[in-house]
Amino acid sequence: MNDRYQKIYNSIKKLDRNKEFLQNICNILKEKIKHFDWVGFYLIEEENKNILVLGPYKGEPTEHTRIEIGEGICGQAADQKETFEVPDVRKENNYLSCSPDVKSEIVVPIFKNYEVIGEIDIDSHEYDPFVEDDKKLLNKIAKLVSEYL
Ligand code: SME
Repeated sequence: MNDRYQKIYNSIKKLDRNKEFLQNICNILKEKIKHFDWVGFYLIEEENKNILVLGPYKGEPTEHTRIEIGEGICGQAADQKETFEVPDVRKENNYLSCSPDVKSEIVVPIFKNYEVIGEIDIDSHEYDPFVEDDKKLLNKIAKLVSEYL
């Protein structure tokens, strides 16, 4: 990762592991990375593991507070257990729109014991904005969060 992204990661690593941890991660990512216009967590529901529930986020409120596994980009990432990048949401049929401003999205699963327990979701107002360092950073953050949850 480049120096700037390494610094962002270091500042996230240093955060207190208190109940604000996930919210603070969202705040830092949204503030520091220009093409991250909405940053949030979805977490697998304890009682029904087929549902992703919206957790802390930074950005416009979304109506998609509960998403079924397989549904939308979030649900597909959880189903396939891998990062799901959509550079142009117009080209994705299985997509849940939050706002017409959103042009692209990336979802990175959070694993515990090889199971998906949640995910980091990023929306961008630009087409195809995500670079390799974004994926590296988000994967490293997913590991930190996995240790915390
Ligand atoms: N676009 C997502 C829904 C969640 S919002 O981006 C916050 C999807 O298709 O799963």
